[in-house]
Amino acid sequence: MPRRLTGFTPSGDLHFGNYIGAIAPIVSAQADTDTVVFISDLHALTLEHDPAQVRRRTLEFATLLLAAGADPDTCLFLVQSHVPQHTELHYLLECATGFGEAQRMIQFREKSRRGGRVRVSLLTYPILMAADILLYDTDEVPVGEDQNQHLELARDVAERFNARYGPTFTVPKAVTPPVAARVMDLATPGEKMSKSAASPAGALRLLDEPRVLRRKVMRAVTDAGTDVTYDPEHKPGVSNLLTILAACTGDTPQRVAGRFDRYGELKEAVADAVVATLAPVRERYLELADDPEYVRAALRKGAERARELASERIRTAKAAIGLLPP
Ligand code: TYM
Repeated sequence: MPRRLTGFTPSGDLHFGNYIGAIAPIVSAQADTDTVVFISDLHALTLEHDPAQVRRRTLEFATLLLAAGADPDTCLFLVQSHVPQHTELHYLLECATGFGEAQRMIQFREKSRRGGRVRVSLLTYPILMAADILLYDTDEVPVGEDQNQHLELARDVAERFNARYGPTFTVPKAVTPPVAARVMDLATPGEKMSKSAASPAGALRLLDEPRVLRRKVMRAVTDAGTDVTYDPEHKPGVSNLLTILAACTGDTPQRVAGRFDRYGELKEAVADAVVATLAPVRERYLELADDPEYVRAALRKGAERARELASERIRTAKAAIGLLPP
């Protein structure tokens, strides 16, 4: 069985883009793949953060992943910082990555331009991500389009390490959804839907109440003209709504467009589809949130198994790179 792995950084509120880009692909394939799903809490420390918020969100994200259908008996389900081998491998991979290579990452350039002090960990973050992936001999990484460059780095580092020190790591590949690999913000459709958007109006959060989801869709920015066509360049707002509807119904945005004559009808259909997709996740979350000990026990079990699995890969990587075994 191929191994699939993906992670979620507890740095804001999980939204529809996260759901379509990574949660749904991992949940729908968990019976046929060897799945690893984790909360990348260490990644949340790369920007200014509030310690209590990171801790709270880590449990919230874990609960939401279970609510969305991740099965802790089928997948390896864990919090990154509970498995110290992630940071151990991170250091070894830093020794196989060029400074310029890390500096070229678009997310680093964008985030470091926002002002304030830039943490060294923001620069090395994609190398920690490579460690997350390579630690578990991952074949496939379901991600949204924004993570493609980081995946390329993970592949390059794995190939370089293998070529220089002998075959050690599986070279992973990104798996992006055929539709909605980049869901856009509803209020500013030129930007991707993001956990840390300036305005909450543009992001459909997994924990938004149905009436809030509906209101956000009905108020979404649309484009000049009246006809419903899929044309991301000239009609970014309408095209985003078509993409969201297509992703919810397993269709293509082009085909979906043919069903509507007016923006208002399209919005009604998108609101219904989004509520039908996300409301059950929220309901299940509210049930599970009453029993945090269940979630924490699942995470403890996952971390225990992960530590065992990861220690063998660390041993071979250390030996390959030239460290004397104890
Ligand atoms: P994060 O937490 O920012 O996002 C989680 C996942 O959601 C996807 N995504 C989107 N997909 C479609 N449209 C959008 N608007 C959208 N926004 C986000 C992301 O591509 C991602 O798949 N560094 C990662 C977490 C991570 C990871 C890993 C992922 C850490 N280690 C190893 C895969 C493998 C991150 O911060 O994703």
